[in-house]
Amino acid sequence: MRSAAITAVGAYLPERKLTNADLEKLVDTSDAWIIERTGIRERRILGKGKGSAYMAIRAAQQALERRGMPAQEIDLIIVATVTPEHPFPATANIVANAIGAKRAWGFDTEAACSSFLYALSVAADIIVAGRVERALIIGSDKMSSIIDYRDRATCVIFGDGAGAVLLEPTEEPVGVMDYLHQADGSGCVHLHMKAGGSVLPPSVRTVRNRLHYVYQEGRQVFKHAVVQMASVAEQLMRKHGLRPEDIAYFVPHQANLRIIEAAAQRLGLPMEKVMVNIDRYGNTTSATLPLCLYDYESRLKRGDNLILASFGGGFTWGALWLRWAY
Ligand code: UT7
Repeated sequence: MRSAAITAVGAYLPERKLTNADLEKLVDTSDAWIIERTGIRERRILGKGKGSAYMAIRAAQQALERRGMPAQEIDLIIVATVTPEHPFPATANIVANAIGAKRAWGFDTEAACSSFLYALSVAADIIVAGRVERALIIGSDKMSSIIDYRDRATCVIFGDGAGAVLLEPTEEPVGVMDYLHQADGSGCVHLHMKAGGSVLPPSVRTVRNRLHYVYQEGRQVFKHAVVQMASVAEQLMRKHGLRPEDIAYFVPHQANLRIIEAAAQRLGLPMEKVMVNIDRYGNTTSATLPLCLYDYESRLKRGDNLILASFGGGFTWGALWLRWAY
């Protein structure tokens, strides 16, 4: 049976660090509050004049280099992002051109913090259907471009970064095994950006009123995230008879350490089996999951069962069962 397996991972993180101490100088907050409520110590910030394509290109190139695969062999590129290089064309097309993926078609996915998980699922199905052979799935977000550094409730959370995975077909029982995704558009009121889209295009008024930033009612989002991320992962595990001891790692979206810990507890998984890097990067939206895979790659073995899970704006949430291929 044909399935789609991750065969390489790449990442790009900007060098500049924004620490909790730096944020103490910008807003009324403290290192202790941020660590206790979120688990974040620092995040990365991409400089002015560079966008999400800059990071996506570097993450993609690293994944290809590690696999020793020329870019011309890529058939499909999907970039998961809420901060595309431009409203159009797709960041995926810019990346394809920059890396020399001459044959690749591609597009972007936007499903807030679930963008990468949804992109990975769609790409795996396209490969299983036999339509393409090799795909690059990249999560890249320059969250600092849509964060209000006067709003202490959001500016402490988000950071910039990119991660990429290479997907290839295999006849072995590894790769993307199954997924379960859900969405509830009534969650829009709690997490969105008010202006910049077609209903409220940019204007002097929208800029003056600071409407081009992430608007989040943190407590509401937190409440839903804690329940839904664990619930969907639990359903997927139950469907396949996967017990906690069968799971090598839980790979949760990195939004808040407390959400991650609550989800792990509900799934009966000790924290040693949970990928966590939120302390170093904060919430990089579409990049959190591939950045976790990148950071933990050396600890993974062929055949390891991973459960990836996300929750974010939309609301969107989902879980994916992945068997590591190398
Ligand atoms: O990835 C997309 C999905 N997003 C998420 O999953 C995020 C989910 N939400 C969260 O992670 C948390 O709700 C936050 C980290 C955003 C906030 O933590 P919280 O424990 O839910 O705090 P809160 O919003 O209930 O606020 C508690 C207090 C408030 O003060 P009062 O009203 O009790 O006086 C806030 O004004 O903490 C205050 N506060 C802060 N204090 C110091 C909010 N932000 C800060 C801050 N520093 N940075």
